[in-house]
Amino acid sequence: MNVLIIGSGGREHAIAWALSKSPSVDNLFISPGNFGTGRVGTNVDLDVGDFASVRDFARANRIDLVVVGPENPLAGGIADFLRGSGISVFGPGALGARLESSKSYAKEFMVRHGIPHPRFWVFDDAGEAASFISTTEGPWVIKADGLALGKGVTVCFDREEALDVARSLMSGRALGDAGKKIVVEEFLQGQELTAMALSDGKTLYPLPFARDHKRAFDGDEGPMTGGMGAYSPVTDLDQKVHEVIVRDILEKTLRGLKEEGIDYRGILYAGLMLTRDGPKVLEYNVRFGDPEAQCILPRLEGDLALCLRGCAEGSLDRALGDAGLRVKPETCVTVIMASGGYPGSYEKGVPISGIELVEKEFPENEVVLFFAGAREENGQVVTAGGRVLAVTALAGSLPLAREKAYNAVKMINFRGAHYRKDIGRMPATLGR
Ligand code: GLY
Repeated sequence: MNVLIIGSGGREHAIAWALSKSPSVDNLFISPGNFGTGRVGTNVDLDVGDFASVRDFARANRIDLVVVGPENPLAGGIADFLRGSGISVFGPGALGARLESSKSYAKEFMVRHGIPHPRFWVFDDAGEAASFISTTEGPWVIKADGLALGKGVTVCFDREEALDVARSLMSGRALGDAGKKIVVEEFLQGQELTAMALSDGKTLYPLPFARDHKRAFDGDEGPMTGGMGAYSPVTDLDQKVHEVIVRDILEKTLRGLKEEGIDYRGILYAGLMLTRDGPKVLEYNVRFGDPEAQCILPRLEGDLALCLRGCAEGSLDRALGDAGLRVKPETCVTVIMASGGYPGSYEKGVPISGIELVEKEFPENEVVLFFAGAREENGQVVTAGGRVLAVTALAGSLPLAREKAYNAVKMINFRGAHYRKDIGRMPATLGR
């Protein structure tokens, strides 16, 4: 089959890498793609915000499946548009994507369907939000209602800071329209966990769980980022909790979507806090996590493309059998190497060295590099974004996978490179 992936991050490189290994894939295109995706497929320069141009490309190139990586085009309705043109799409339509594109919608959905969640309050009036914060005890978790590229959540321990965050969001100063409505959420303590599943609207296939490290610095300090690393499997979890997450969260969510008439085909992502009272949903996402994809996809064996097509075409059950999808028992650790200054401002165009060294030293089934903010300039790979690349290592245990990942990280250099040194060490995670 011919596949077109939409997106340009490390997640899309991981998806492209996994699909390039699927026996059923003949041609793989990525738009716009990045340096890494160009090594496993063909990058195509389309304006992905112009859905008609995506459709025209898909028709001209006999694309059998479009896989949408990021949330923005899904929230904008790309899946509805392409499906309406008879093209199979992995990714939900705009109605399903509201689980991510509106935090208040997602919370109200959890209430309607009895899905465990922290207590929350929704405000679209700045005065009411300020008076709530002034008269309640913190900490306050303040979330922009709309999409904010990972910048929409602030945990405030200080009342003045909470008032300030709410004010700058609701005035539109911080995030434009995305912040004009906010959700204030109860602060939960515990360990975070990412639970994702493939869905064809009827059937779920839970993927291995992962844990993402969202803060910039070791020990879960510093500002929130898009994610500084992840590992999978997560072993500090008993079988009972695993079952509760699948039954009472993932399956219940899919049932809720069906009851509301939403035919959800794509990734269902639940960002959870494991609390003393059981797992609770902090947020939904409607696409693969980044960097979770980079540490889960290398653990899968079988023909992933058949499974994604099965989701897109409502036949996941059959596809799973045909694809022979299996999860490797190995542990995967992914360390993100970021530009100095990220998630704030950072320089671009910095030469990256050591890529060939890593690829010569380690076979691909042990260490693989997934690129995000990197591009090729006059034959030299240079930085082009905040999260530059992900180093993913597979090994027989978490300590061995950590060791291998960090050995590879040390071989890669660029001026100002920043990475966390405690990925996979299971720190006590702050709530959010
Ligand atoms: N790693 C969190 C996310 O993808 O949103």
